[in-house]
Amino acid sequence: MNNNLNIDNIITINNASVIYQKDNLITHALTQVTLEIKRGSFIAILGRNGSGKSTLAKLLNASLLPDIGEIFVDGINTNDESRAFDIRSKVGMVFQNPDNQMVATIIEDDLAFGPENLGIPRAEIRERVDWALKTVGMYEHRLRATQKLSGGQKQRVAIAAVLSMAPDVLILDEATAMLDPRGREEVMDTARKLNTEKHMTIVLITHYMDEAVCADKIIVLDEGRVVTEGTPIEVFRQVDLIKKAGLEFPTPAEAAFKLKTLGYNIPVVLTDDELVEALCQLK
Ligand SMILES: Nc1ncnc2c1ncn2[C@@H]1O[C@H](COP(=O)(O)OP(=O)(O)O)[C@@H](O)[C@H]1O
Ligand SMILES: [Mg+2]
Repeated sequence: MNNNLNIDNIITINNASVIYQKDNLITHALTQVTLEIKRGSFIAILGRNGSGKSTLAKLLNASLLPDIGEIFVDGINTNDESRAFDIRSKVGMVFQNPDNQMVATIIEDDLAFGPENLGIPRAEIRERVDWALKTVGMYEHRLRATQKLSGGQKQRVAIAAVLSMAPDVLILDEATAMLDPRGREEVMDTARKLNTEKHMTIVLITHYMDEAVCADKIIVLDEGRVVTEGTPIEVFRQVDLIKKAGLEFPTPAEAAFKLKTLGYNIPVVLTDDELVEALCQLK
């Protein structure tokens, strides 16, 4: 334990750097990253391909250790190898490809696999699996084959598999990238519900700006550095910085910018409701 840690934070990152070395190629994947993630918050991490998002995610569940600096998860230093198991059960991850995350043919068997490995008693496994399936809205499908599901349903099962481990933090690393709009919506609804109803801390890594606007805090990475962090409006107001980081804007913001170039006096808006409100103010 580090006595200087703020216990409101489920995750604290102090000056972390990651340098990959492959053959003769050295990549500074993350450089001097310092961040705090509050318990129960919804965080979005944005940045172009190669900006270090997945590397940062891996630091958060100790699947990667920093070369410099330190990461604390619920007060535990991820460098403490004797606690690696605790950290991995506190921080669950869902990745891009739903097909790579299934271990069993039948959905409920797939979910039981993790808790079985933890040596959890059968009755509790049953409870956890049922709870997780209900939470993601897949309970009625529990006896179906995982391969028969849609992409969105597979990702919800992948989230349920993480939930069956009873984590404090759920990381979604581009978990909607391979889904159709409906599947994306299913996964995002599930993430928002886990945050608001179960107070789970969510770390959403995404290429879709519209998914990030519901976050409490957005963190923008560029070339392995945090270039800005703040509420969605604080971040997307920095138009030049957002463009420089290779990002786009949420759809309503793009619409507002177009109107602005046409001479209308309209502020930066992030949601459809805000856009409608701003349009009503125009006349
Ligand atoms: N295992 C690895 N070995 C060497 N370089 C890597 C490895 N993983 C990632 N990188 C490099 O580190 C940088 C950051 O990668 P990554 O964290 O995957 O970015 P993102 O998820 O934002 O696309 C990239 O330049 C990438 O090529
Ligand atoms: Mg990535």
